[in-house]
Amino acid sequence: MKQRTPWSKPVLTPHRPGGMNKFGALRPQLHQSELDGVAIPPLLEQYGSPLFIVSEKRLRENARHLRRAFSTRWPKVRHGWSYKTNYLGAICNVLHQEGSWAEVVSELEYRKARALGVPGSRIIFNGPWKPAAALEQALLEGAALHLDHLDELFAVEQIAQRLGRQVPVGLRMNFDTGHTEPWSRFGFNYESGAAMDAARRIGASQWLQLTGLHSHIGTFILDVRAYAQQARIMAEFMEAAERETGCRIEYLDIGGGFASRNSLQGLYLPPDQTVPSFEQYAEAIVTALAEATRGRAALGKPVPALVLETGRALVDDAEVLVTRVVGGKRLPDGRRAAILDAGVNLLFTAYWYNHDVRPLQPVEGLAEETVLYGPLCMNIDTVRASVMLPPLNVGDALLISPAGAYNNTQWMQFIQSRPAVVMVMQDGSIEPIRLAETLQTLTELERVPDALHAPFPNPTPSR
Ligand SMILES: Cc1ncc(COP(=O)(O)O)c(C=O)c1O
Repeated sequence: MKQRTPWSKPVLTPHRPGGMNKFGALRPQLHQSELDGVAIPPLLEQYGSPLFIVSEKRLRENARHLRRAFSTRWPKVRHGWSYKTNYLGAICNVLHQEGSWAEVVSELEYRKARALGVPGSRIIFNGPWKPAAALEQALLEGAALHLDHLDELFAVEQIAQRLGRQVPVGLRMNFDTGHTEPWSRFGFNYESGAAMDAARRIGASQWLQLTGLHSHIGTFILDVRAYAQQARIMAEFMEAAERETGCRIEYLDIGGGFASRNSLQGLYLPPDQTVPSFEQYAEAIVTALAEATRGRAALGKPVPALVLETGRALVDDAEVLVTRVVGGKRLPDGRRAAILDAGVNLLFTAYWYNHDVRPLQPVEGLAEETVLYGPLCMNIDTVRASVMLPPLNVGDALLISPAGAYNNTQWMQFIQSRPAVVMVMQDGSIEPIRLAETLQTLTELERVPDALHAPFPNPTPSR
């Protein structure tokens, strides 16, 4: 008997120019229903929707790829896992097992790393505010402490004096590489001379010893020349500081900022064509560093260790967000809109990325320009302003990726609780790595004074 094609709702597709571009036709109707060979629909049934899913395999592969790209080019390489990118304990520990130190930027993150079992001597402590107690703990535990401003320098000096010992410190610098918008608010400025003044001040102190330099030139940096210039400036500063103050710099920490394979809003080309590989970043950085430090060997001085704090490029594509359609509508301008159970409360990065969105299952029907809204009663809750998708029905699930960087740290509790996060382990088993929140999670720290116990103390008689 002849197979009948299933009925699908007719749609009127207004003609819009731009459907074709020079890279080819409209994006084909992709779908994805598994991650690392594990079927996603049963996970949604078990853990609920929305759901974050992390691939342990991809995370480890990314970490190894980064390490290989750099350690095959430079003799001493260290990676500090940028906690703020994603500090779920399971994710941090995968990266620690791969050899990464912890890179933290607050007292809370420092404590989190210690609670996970990371020794202080494997923590890089950055950030503009490190309270006195945290500074002292970090100094006692041997963390690599990077000074952000003069008040912090004086505070560390006082603590060292009180402890009666000289302590090693690193100096955070900022400068203009000429290839990206300079970030000047963290650390000491190079061009103005503030960084060298700080190095001299450290050199003059009997309690401080300058052993490292740090800078973080920005994030999602696509131009490898920015890193080459960063390496040159830091190496040149190292030579000058050593000459002037007699210190010995053991490491140059170039921060994070490598782009992930995500689609930045406003960029014309797709990530495959714009995002440099780890090898391309490594080649640019190491070539510049090797040239700038060539004279050291002749003087019997060792080359500095190269420290990386790569965040988003390691974790972004190791995690996806799965969400369900909860409703649909036609907007007055004719565009179709779908309302999802996940919005910018969970996908903070939707503000600057055009995430890849695809249905879990193949959906019949013509693809049409669609706006994806989240569930928040807030006008700016847009997950994708425009994406070509087939007709969606209530209950259809969508997979949004990459979603691993900055979402599990910048998510919020605004009118919705946060969902579960599960990890697909290397052996194909599933482990929940953060449970779904409940009303109790939202209210457990609240206290309602006795006088406010009853919401309606004098109930008005019902009419
Ligand atoms: C000091 C520092 N290091 C590392 C990172 C990680 O950056 P990215 O995720 O862009 O690699 C950041 C992020 O802003 C940072 O501030």
